Amino acid sequence: MTAVAENPTAANPAPVPEGSTMVTVKVARFNPEDGQGQRWESFQVPALSTDRFLNLLIYIKSYLDGTLTFRRSCAHGVCGSDAMRINGVNRLACKVLMKDMLPKNGKPVTISVEPIRGLPVEKDLVVDMEPFFDAFRAVKPYLITSGNEPTYERIQSQADRARFDDTTKCILCACCTTSCPVYWTDGSYFGPAAIVNAHRFIFDSRDEAARERLDILNEVDGVWRCRTTFNCTDACPRGIEVTKAIQEVKRALLFAR
Ligand code: SF4
Ligand code: SF4
Ligand code: FES
Repeated sequence: MTAVAENPTAANPAPVPEGSTMVTVKVARFNPEDGQGQRWESFQVPALSTDRFLNLLIYIKSYLDGTLTFRRSCAHGVCGSDAMRINGVNRLACKVLMKDMLPKNGKPVTISVEPIRGLPVEKDLVVDMEPFFDAFRAVKPYLITSGNEPTYERIQSQADRARFDDTTKCILCACCTTSCPVYWTDGSYFGPAAIVNAHRFIFDSRDEAARERLDILNEVDGVWRCRTTFNCTDACPRGIEVTKAIQEVKRALLFAR
């Protein structure tokens, strides 16, 4: 939990670190209980070049408005919980370096932040991730085998392991799925993250349920909805070649894996 301070007063001003630059952070606010719908609210926040954008959100919550609501956990690009649209692009707030956002010429800078698209907004920057995880669960993202368990490990060659290495890196942040125009217009599409996680097991030589997963992805809401626009690959903070993984699943459906 982020510590929440009282709103600053003349007697108790919010701290401004030495060497910081004032930045306008424009936040899309939404409170389901106030009946006002979504609206923009701006905050003046001091930023250091060593900050991540997440630090600015924590500053707002700590010193300017304790009701600001967002998710985060690890602050190091590992947990995948702070995906949001920053200046119109899906990013992890903890991976956006302020040294890349601060103006070199002293001009004022405004950074906008909104919730990721295509999932219901619960409050401010927090969305309901359940539809995203429903699609993930639907592709059976776990090892499926039959027969007795081996006495030792399940042997796999380095080449076989390399076959799905890229898709093991997924942290389920939803940056890809919520940047996909097909997902925005048709929420029943599984979306790229679910396909990435199906890929991780479809091409695992130790798994025995590839056919089952391919049949699921061959359905009307599956891989054939993808229009190969590469938004998902551009959005992935882990550098996963998402569209390539989707293409490999399509090829496996066409030509058997
Ligand atoms: S490549 Fe496919 S899954 Fe990725 S954003 Fe485009 S349509 Fe969506
Ligand atoms: S594939 Fe990349 S963008 Fe998509 S959920 Fe996984 S880590 Fe996030
Ligand atoms: S807070 Fe964990 S990925 Fe950003």
